[in-house]
Amino acid sequence: MTVVVLLAAGRGVRMRSERPKVLHEAAGRPLLDRALDTALAVAGSAAQVVVVVSNDGDAVASHVKAAYPGVRVARQNPPRGTGDAVRVAALAFGKAKSVVVLSGDVPLLAAETVKGLLAVLAKDKKAAAAVLTARLQDPTGYGRIVRDKKRAFVRIKEERDASEKERAIGEINTGTYAFDRAFLEKTLSLLTSKNSQNELYLTDVLSLARKAGRRVVFVEGDAASALGVNSRADLAAVERILRDRKASEAMRAGTTILRPETVTLDETVVLEADTVLEPFVTLLGKTRIGTGTVIGQGTVVKDSVFGKNVTVRPYCVIESAVVGDGAVVGPFARLREGTDLAEGVHVGNFVETKKAVLKKGVKANHLTYLGDTEIGERTNVGAGVITCNYDGFAKHRTTIGKDVFVGSDSQLVAPITIGDGAIIAAGTTVTEDVPRDALALAREPQKNLPEGGAKYRERKKQR
Ligand code: UD1
Ligand code: MG
Repeated sequence: MTVVVLLAAGRGVRMRSERPKVLHEAAGRPLLDRALDTALAVAGSAAQVVVVVSNDGDAVASHVKAAYPGVRVARQNPPRGTGDAVRVAALAFGKAKSVVVLSGDVPLLAAETVKGLLAVLAKDKKAAAAVLTARLQDPTGYGRIVRDKKRAFVRIKEERDASEKERAIGEINTGTYAFDRAFLEKTLSLLTSKNSQNELYLTDVLSLARKAGRRVVFVEGDAASALGVNSRADLAAVERILRDRKASEAMRAGTTILRPETVTLDETVVLEADTVLEPFVTLLGKTRIGTGTVIGQGTVVKDSVFGKNVTVRPYCVIESAVVGDGAVVGPFARLREGTDLAEGVHVGNFVETKKAVLKKGVKANHLTYLGDTEIGERTNVGAGVITCNYDGFAKHRTTIGKDVFVGSDSQLVAPITIGDGAIIAAGTTVTEDVPRDALALAREPQKNLPEGGAKYRERKKQR
């Protein structure tokens, strides 16, 4: 049996943030969740995962309790280094054969990689620990693996404790380990804080292993698995990798992405084959895009479901909406929560919708606000139409039947119902229900003054 300890009590000072470091998000998810997924996959059950949080890590503890019920939380008060953190978790070791230690700030580590460490440890009877290392072009900030002339392991030196020569070492500690539980338990009590940070370093367990005649096995992983987030720049690097991975995966699965480096896709987004994403598209949350759909440049979509063959023209903002097969949206449309567009609906430029159900074939192509409304099949909504859904106190509904023609620049003062087949004359302010097939007209009759325009101009000139 294996217990997995996830370290998350560090102050994360280099982030310069009120928010605990591990709750900062990369590609829409907290760093901690990414590490916890790995921890759970390695441990096999939540009860075998312990997250170490600090006393002021209440936000972290409550996040773990809410998002990962069953995972244990240990408190380190105050945080006195990674070695001290593992000591705090030791109560949960029980009779486990091995203990895996992961960092809450290392989000790109795959469970398979950690399982590899456990396998190496299990195979080698003399080994006290297996350590995941990486070779980095720029090892700045990481602990370096210091070796003697025969390349045998000596110790791990932290950047701040390292000499100039040691800092030139490119082989680094990723902070991911598998330990023989009995050895770890015994050795944790021997750690001292003789270093620049006055902390108990977990890494010293490894040099103590060597001194005790036990072996330390090093497994080299890739650079991404090593990425530990200590600063906002590190966070951006993780974000970039995750975005690239998701874009590549989408392309493999049949999405054309015109400029992948400009597109932002949350991992939770689902794209069917033969979809097209133009440059600078952002798709977030639980968004699903059906086959044949094209999302225009600069469009932002969150938590929305698109059917087949939808055309979204550039620069739309769409949130919590449903868009049916063959619908055409934008450019510059804003679909807000509760928008439900049926098959073949057209919503054009500068149209805003909210809690709006538009049935099959409805068209609202220009400069319109449709809120708290249901509109029947094939109805045409003219330019500049507004559902006046708010009276200063409460929201009210507008119900429009099918095959209605709503003339341009009309206001529909809710609550109001317009019957099937009705026609609303342009410029009408509708305050009474309109019966089926009626023509509603509410505006000043027009009068034309003969030569009035010419006379007006003449008057102006004389002044
Ligand atoms: C640590 C390693 C370093 C390695 C690097 C990899 C040590 C001494 N150094 O350095 O060799 O290259 O990770 O990313 O272990 N934490 C606690 N309690 C504490 C201190 C830290 O829980 O008292 C947690 C942090 O929240 C973090 C993890 O341990 O998740 C690592 O701590 P951090 O301060 O980031 O260590 P590094 O300087 O990155
Ligand atoms: Mg770190």
